[in-house]
Amino acid sequence: MKKVLVIGSGGREHALAWKLIQSPQVEQVYVAPGNAGTQLEANVDNIDIASDDLQALLEFAQQYAIDLTLVGPEAPLVAGIVDAFKQADMLIFGPQQYNAQLEGSKAFAKHFMQSFKIPTAEFREFTEPQAALTYLRSRSLPIVIKADGLAAGKGVVIAHSADEAERAVLTMLSGDAHGDAGKKIVIEEFIQGQEVSFICVVDHNTVIPLASSQDHKARDDADKGPNTGGMGAYSPSPLVDQAMHEKIMTQVILPTVQGFIVSGHPYQGFLYAGIMITPEGVPKVLEFNCRLGDPETQPIMLRLQSDLAELCWDVARNQLTSRHLRWSEQSALGVVLASGGYPYNYGKGDTINGLDQACPAHAKVFHAGTVQAGEEVKTSGGRVLCVTALGDDVKQAQQRAYQEVRKISWNKMFYRNDIGYRAISD
Ligand code: AMP
Ligand code: GLY
Repeated sequence: MKKVLVIGSGGREHALAWKLIQSPQVEQVYVAPGNAGTQLEANVDNIDIASDDLQALLEFAQQYAIDLTLVGPEAPLVAGIVDAFKQADMLIFGPQQYNAQLEGSKAFAKHFMQSFKIPTAEFREFTEPQAALTYLRSRSLPIVIKADGLAAGKGVVIAHSADEAERAVLTMLSGDAHGDAGKKIVIEEFIQGQEVSFICVVDHNTVIPLASSQDHKARDDADKGPNTGGMGAYSPSPLVDQAMHEKIMTQVILPTVQGFIVSGHPYQGFLYAGIMITPEGVPKVLEFNCRLGDPETQPIMLRLQSDLAELCWDVARNQLTSRHLRWSEQSALGVVLASGGYPYNYGKGDTINGLDQACPAHAKVFHAGTVQAGEEVKTSGGRVLCVTALGDDVKQAQQRAYQEVRKISWNKMFYRNDIGYRAISD
C-alpha cells in the first residue's frame, strides 16, 4: 500500500492525512480537495477535485493507481462512492450506500433502532404538516424536530416553545429550510444528559472501539448559543468508564452491527454513535454518523499510536483482527478557531497570522477552512483551524492547546474559551 487518497477538506481530513503519512507503508497521500494544511505536509498533495464529484474521484484513483481510498465526509458516502469504487475493483474504506442511510436518513436510523431494540428517543415521522402539528400539540416541551436528510449539521431544532416548534415543522416540510432534505421530518422526545461520541471501526467480522471523545456543539462558552459542527473536542471522555463502555457496546454498537448483518448488508468503515447519557446512566442514541467526527478526529489521531494505514487497509479487505489499538495514555484536546459570524454568514479571504511560529511536539495545528495564497494562508471557511495538544490530563492538554491558540490571529477570529470544562473538576 503505497498511495492513499483521502477525500475531504476539513480538519478531520488533515488529521487523517497527517497520521497516514507517518506509516512506513505509505509513500504518498493525496487529498481531494484538501486545504492549505494538508498541502504543507511532506509527501501529501492536494488534488483539485470536489469531494462530491464521484466520477472524477474514481477516475483519479484509477489513473494514479491508488492503493486505498478513505472517505472523510458523509455526503459522498450517502451518494454511494463506496459502491462505485467497489464496482470498479478499487479498494476503499467506508460504508456502502445502504449502510450510510444510517446517517443520510433520520427516519431510516430511527426505524433501524426500533427494529433492533437500540435505545433512542421516542419518535414519529411526518410528511404532512397537519398531522405533524396535531402530534406536536399532544407532546410536552422541549421537543426535537429533525429534517430527515443531510442538512450539513443544521437540520435539528430543539424547540422550547410551541411557536418555535410549529415554525420548525412548517419551514422544514415546505422545503424552505433544507429543500428536499426537510420534506420528511422526525419529531422526537427531548433527552436530558451529557453527550459522548462513541466511534468504532467495523468490518464484516470485527468491531474495535476507538478512544472515546466528546465535542462541544454549541458556539458559545458554557455550551450556549446556536449549534455548530463542533467548536472543540477532547479524548478520552470521563463519562465513558469501563461499565459505560460495556453498556454502549452491548446495547448500541453490537446490535447495530448485527442488525446490518441480518439485513444482508454487513457494515464496513467508521461507525459513530452520538449518545446522550441520561442522569440515570442510560445511554440513548441521538444520531448515528457513518464516518469519523470533526473535530473529534483531531484529538483522537493525536492519541493513536497504532498505524492508521494498516488498520484501514485491513478493514477494507475485511481482515480486521480483534487486536487492540494502541493509544497514548495522555489526553488530547482541540480548540476550533472560527470565522466571525459562523455558523451563519461569515467572511473569507482573511490572512491568518502566527502559523509560522514553532509549535511544540505535544501540539499540532490542523487546518480546515484554509487556502494557500502565495506566501500567505487565508481563511476560506467557517471552521478554520483546530489547535490540538496532548497533556497528562485534559487540564494540561487544555492549557497547552490554548497556549498555541494565542499565537494565532486574523480579522474577526473567534473561539470558545472553555473547551473541555466538563472534564476538568477544579
Ligand atoms: P443530531 O444531528 O441528531 O445529533 O442532533 C444534533 C444535536 O442536537 C445533538 O448533538 C444534540 O446535542 C441535540 N439533540 C439531538 N437530538 C436530541 C434529543 N432527542 N434530545 C436532546 N438533544 C438532542
Ligand atoms: N462533531 C460532530 C460530528 O462530526 O458530527
